[in-house]
Amino acid sequence: MNHRFCSTIFVACTVLAGTAMVVADDLLIEDFESDSYKKWVLTGDAFGNAPATGALAGQGSVSGFRGSRLVNTFNGGDGSTGTATSPVFRIERSHIAFLIGGGQHKETLGIELRVDGKVVRSETGPGSEELTWSSWDVSHFRGKQGVLRILDLATGGWGHINVDHIIQTNDPPERFDLEYKLAQYRQSADYMNEPLRPQFHFSPEINWMNDPNGLVFHGGEYHLFHQYNPGGNTWGHMSWGHAVSRNLTHWKHLPLAIPVEDGFMAFSGCCVVDHNNTSGFGDRKKPPMVAIYTEHGHGEQVQNLAWSNDHGRTWTKYDQNPVLDLDRQDFRDPKVFWHEPTNRWVMVVSLAIEKKLVFYGSSDLTTWTELSRFGPAGVIDKPNWECPDLFELPVEGERGKTMWVLEVDMGSGSVAGGSGGEYFVGTFDGQCFNTLQHAQWVDYGRDFYAPISWDNIPKTDGRRIWIGWFNNWETCLVPTSPWRSCMSTPRTLSLRKVAFNDEEPATYVLVQKPVRELQDLRSSTRMLDATKATWPPIAVTNADELKDMTFELETTVTPGTARSVGFRIRTGEDEYTEVAYDRNYCGVYVDRTKSGNVNFHDAFAGRHTAPARTTNGEVTLRIFVDRSTIEVFVNGGESVISDRIFPTGHSPSVEVFAGNDSAKISSLKLHTLNSTWRRK
Ligand code: FRU
Repeated sequence: MNHRFCSTIFVACTVLAGTAMVVADDLLIEDFESDSYKKWVLTGDAFGNAPATGALAGQGSVSGFRGSRLVNTFNGGDGSTGTATSPVFRIERSHIAFLIGGGQHKETLGIELRVDGKVVRSETGPGSEELTWSSWDVSHFRGKQGVLRILDLATGGWGHINVDHIIQTNDPPERFDLEYKLAQYRQSADYMNEPLRPQFHFSPEINWMNDPNGLVFHGGEYHLFHQYNPGGNTWGHMSWGHAVSRNLTHWKHLPLAIPVEDGFMAFSGCCVVDHNNTSGFGDRKKPPMVAIYTEHGHGEQVQNLAWSNDHGRTWTKYDQNPVLDLDRQDFRDPKVFWHEPTNRWVMVVSLAIEKKLVFYGSSDLTTWTELSRFGPAGVIDKPNWECPDLFELPVEGERGKTMWVLEVDMGSGSVAGGSGGEYFVGTFDGQCFNTLQHAQWVDYGRDFYAPISWDNIPKTDGRRIWIGWFNNWETCLVPTSPWRSCMSTPRTLSLRKVAFNDEEPATYVLVQKPVRELQDLRSSTRMLDATKATWPPIAVTNADELKDMTFELETTVTPGTARSVGFRIRTGEDEYTEVAYDRNYCGVYVDRTKSGNVNFHDAFAGRHTAPARTTNGEVTLRIFVDRSTIEVFVNGGESVISDRIFPTGHSPSVEVFAGNDSAKISSLKLHTLNSTWRRK
């Protein structure tokens, strides 16, 4: 049943759940809606003088509480402590249910029930600012007197607790109302078509998403698991969401694959198809899919297995989990692949704070032996390495030559600010990775994080394809609802020897190209006349042709001696996103300073520049625009800029400009692209 509509003491509340009418006779213990704690007895200073009205100074956004107030012990920050004890009440229903959010420390944070002076039930927070339902079966204590105590005795990070709406009930609410909320959203006129909803990029129907997980091709389907919050639109309760596609463009949303359980979250990881049934989880005729992921909870991160024998539709957790436990808090994000020459599985996994990657080997996915370590290393000296990937790539133009790429992401300090990825190019002999050149940035925009590549793509296809989270941890609370985040376009990878300028020697750079399947989405193609580009910018499209704001521009630009030459995209009233070549930096930039809603975070507005060499005086660009995303692939993918934008108006048109007569946009092709989300 759905409790969102029930309130006041002893409510007889009628709710439509599907088609059935449900009647509840819940007893309200406390809703914390008044401007005092009434008869609750307080100690310490964490609770303030009255229930809070939302987030407190210095706290992230707090959501999921009922009405306009809640208990929030962030008064004075995480350092404050205290307790709140309820008046005595008689236990008259089978369950006590409440909304709970905040830090996860069993001993020092949470809510507890005392009966006959003894703590008989307790619960800590989920490690998220989003409050969700939790309940205790108290049928055993019916008729007895109970007392509740909310406690915040923790002073470190996440040293606070959020509690609201405590009831007695015979029908405890589901933890997350996901199915109910999805059913409602699927009726909505805006279904997958809100003004800022990308139309050819993957996004969840509702709620928060971050990293891609478990990318694997199996049985004709590309699987796209992802970090997903079944409880709301901010990070928390991390579980594996699931979607599949046969063409990398049209995705089908499927039910949760690996859910959070008892506060233990399913963090990032990977999936393999165990063709030889080395794990024993299936058989050779029907090889199992095996997920290797980080379990995070109660201060520890360990590596776990789960398997599926029905193409990822249902999952069983390995009963001898964890398969790797170093008794560490920052040991996460395993990526596993079959290494043919050594005939074994290889895992790369991160010791995030130490900025080290550990390589393990295994013959059966369940027993792992350490092979070597890599790092600290990298472009900058910032800690927090996450989500590594390791794969072999062909070198363009050097027939038969391959090299290994080790990619890893960092939580902060990236090239455009905030989180981002770097990569090393070198050798891997099945035991150790050795880098042959300095680390380089994966993407020069702010919004490409934690990419991983698909495993098990057939040799007849031969591509290495990856996808990244189209967001940045620093500015991740983007202004979209009821969903947050999307993935990048899937990109095919290769290596190319490039000297970005005359001073630096050529290095092997990672080349990323949008997968060819995106071309099948083209609904119209026409040449635009940009030869008259001058200053100020002039429009080259008519409003109608770009009304869906999902398109690609393919262009060749000749900068000449001008300072800059390029495009304004999604121009509206005093709004535009600029994409141009800048001679002073020998680079191409995306400037989103005036792109629309930039004020939701101080670090959002800005200009992000990628290195771009000219060949015969020319630079080529492919620019993909999808309502609230922009991706610029420079010179066939030698460098890439991925940025989110949040235009406030319809802003469909494209303008061109050139700094002086020597600069030209010598060719400009517009492809409009079809939406991949059809209304159900
Ligand atoms: C990267 C990351 C991973 C972790 C996951 C949790 O974005 O921090 O290291 O597994 O997100 O959602």
